[in-house]
Amino acid sequence: MTKTLRVELGADSYPIVVGTGLLNRVGEILTPHVKSGKVLIVSDAFVKARYMPIVHRRLTDAGLDVNTVEIPVGEESKSLAEFSRIQDSLVANQLDRGSTLIALGGGVIGDLGGFAAAVYMRGISYIQIPTTLQAQVDASVGGKTAINHPKGKNLIGAFHQPKAVVIDVDTLKTLPQRDIRSGLIEVIKMGVIRDEPLFEMVAENLEAILNIEAATLIEMISRACVNKAEIVAKDEKESGLRMVLNYGHTFGHALEALTHYNSYQHGEAVSIGMNCAAQLAVQLGMFSETAFQRQRSLLKRAKLPLTFPADLTPEAICDAMYLDKKTLGGKRRLILPTRIGEVVIRDDVDDRQVLEVISQCF
Ligand SMILES: NC(=O)c1ccc[n+]([C@@H]2O[C@H](COP(=O)([O-])OP(=O)(O)OC[C@H]3O[C@@H](n4cnc5c(N)ncnc54)[C@H](O)[C@@H]3O)[C@@H](O)[C@H]2O)c1
Ligand SMILES: [Zn+2]
Repeated sequence: MTKTLRVELGADSYPIVVGTGLLNRVGEILTPHVKSGKVLIVSDAFVKARYMPIVHRRLTDAGLDVNTVEIPVGEESKSLAEFSRIQDSLVANQLDRGSTLIALGGGVIGDLGGFAAAVYMRGISYIQIPTTLQAQVDASVGGKTAINHPKGKNLIGAFHQPKAVVIDVDTLKTLPQRDIRSGLIEVIKMGVIRDEPLFEMVAENLEAILNIEAATLIEMISRACVNKAEIVAKDEKESGLRMVLNYGHTFGHALEALTHYNSYQHGEAVSIGMNCAAQLAVQLGMFSETAFQRQRSLLKRAKLPLTFPADLTPEAICDAMYLDKKTLGGKRRLILPTRIGEVVIRDDVDDRQVLEVISQCF
């Protein structure tokens, strides 16, 4: 069972292959996208142990010269130090301009590996093989690559489109349920911002999704990727439209920063953020109570959190929203829903209203 989609970016267009058993066929799938024989596979310790052997074997069988580098598990690896280690490995293994970097892992590996590929020899090809739901429906598509600075997440990065994305849904069988639920928020978000049928599909098939039923996942992930691909095709460098992907994220990023990125998974913080943004939209008279309840009930069924933790104050959350890097010229931009399937960008909501709605979301 395989679906192939395309991100349309002129000369930089690329396919996204979604299916089961793809790691086993990775040689035949990837050889058309690899120019010369040399590749470097970047992965983290867990992914390397679990999935590297098959990928390594299949690529070697396909005649490629396969080198590997292992990165410690975790967000801390999106660092200059690990970036440097990848550059060292690219040099030591003599990868040249025609070589390809393969990012095999979650969003951390995709962002770090993608950035390493973006700058090595002023840019070499890279391929994404995402193994978390978060990376499969979001991080691996769109060409945003980055590492973190001690003062902020993703502050150092580049736009660099992959040559191909291979999504094997079988890899989700080893992913903890908490990560599945957290990654699912990006699909629900996509439903709310522009695809009501996708939102309904998740609502109707939630149990199958959480049980990792392949056909449902292939359908859902493909539809999420089509949406992301369409947005990216219209706004590759995030000058406007792409901003709608930040629905729930302005509140969510504030919560993640205030809790030092170690209490909430990204998707959990975004879930609280979406609930809060939707509540604000209701209070501004632009989103119906019924639509609000539809979103709330799906987040609840997915066992995603809806309220801020009691040890934070509304003022601290409101202040932290200004520090989010998506704030433009001191203005806080909010993505607010008008119905399930449509959002607008607003920069005219005053602090008092934001503060009031945050205090109701505890
Ligand atoms: N570039 C973008 O557009 C974009 C978009 C969204 C998020 N991101 C980035 O993605 C990162 C988060 O991605 P993530 O949630 O995938 O984190 P991650 O890469 O840290 O993976 C989470 C954990 O899952 C493990 N793992 C990976 N695959 C697994 C599998 N199949 N089975 C079991 N465990 C597995 C990893 O070892 C890790 O411990 C953040 O750094 C975020 O900034 C980037
Ligand atoms: Zn997100």
